[in-house]
Amino acid sequence: MDESLQRKIEEVIGSINKINLLDEQGWTSEVRRIFTGDRSYLLKSSYKEKYRTWLKAEAQVLKILNKKKIISVPEYYGFIEGKDSDHLIMSFEDGMTLTAALTKATSSTERKSLIRSFGQFLHQFHEKEPLEILKGEGDWLEGQLIKAQSYVENGQTGGSIKLLNHLKTKKPTPVIQTMIHGDCTTDNVFVINGEVQLFIDIAGMTVGDPRYDESLAIRKFMDNPEYLTAFYEGYTRYRVTKEEFFYFDEGVYEFF
Ligand SMILES: Nc1ncnc2c1ncn2[C@@H]1O[C@H](COP(=O)(O)OP(=O)(O)O)[C@@H](O)[C@H]1O
Ligand SMILES: [Mg+2]
Repeated sequence: MDESLQRKIEEVIGSINKINLLDEQGWTSEVRRIFTGDRSYLLKSSYKEKYRTWLKAEAQVLKILNKKKIISVPEYYGFIEGKDSDHLIMSFEDGMTLTAALTKATSSTERKSLIRSFGQFLHQFHEKEPLEILKGEGDWLEGQLIKAQSYVENGQTGGSIKLLNHLKTKKPTPVIQTMIHGDCTTDNVFVINGEVQLFIDIAGMTVGDPRYDESLAIRKFMDNPEYLTAFYEGYTRYRVTKEEFFYFDEGVYEFF
């Protein structure tokens, strides 16, 4: 890490003893654990323009949520804007992603219990009264399709214009909007003491279509009826149809 960045980080958290690159890296960022005398922090850095925009959004949402204390997320410490990169400092949480926990689990009973707790956690989140401050302007899905269009035009996505046009004409019947995580895969929820207890990677957290979260949540075990059952023992508020699942998982998600 270059000296000027290290100095800026130290202005926020005090003098640094040690820096470790994490084994489990993200898709859009580089993550490091930073140790000071008394505790540790997570430094999340992004370099590409698209991902820097997301990191900035994540910093803003984290900051807002830290004031509210209604949704379980890491603590916000600071955001550093550099010339070629941006850096978000948050609390380092002891635990692991649900993806890692499922890999590590030694029995299908344990896996089902983890997945059930994911369902429960997401259920409780979607049932909460939406925070006014998280509401974006206009319709969430419309906004996502506009963003997708700009990603296509600027060559920033693998999704095709043909798929996008299809999604525009085949919008699902609207449902009541709720708070959503916005990238609710097993990679972005954290397991602590055997249960999903925390959201990470929250750049997309806003008020939107809960079927998007639900579809991304189940994408990893869509073809495993036992795991799906476990998820829906926890998530009892709604069950996406096959069409809705494909619209969101293999449709909208392709562009992000
Ligand atoms: N607050 C945190 N505490 C501990 N580990 C974290 C924290 N935030 C992220 N991580 C780790 O860093 C990885 C990447 O973080 P994430 O925010 O999901 O990045 P990306 O946007 O690149 O997917 C996660 O899979 C997790 O292992
Ligand atoms: Mg992630």
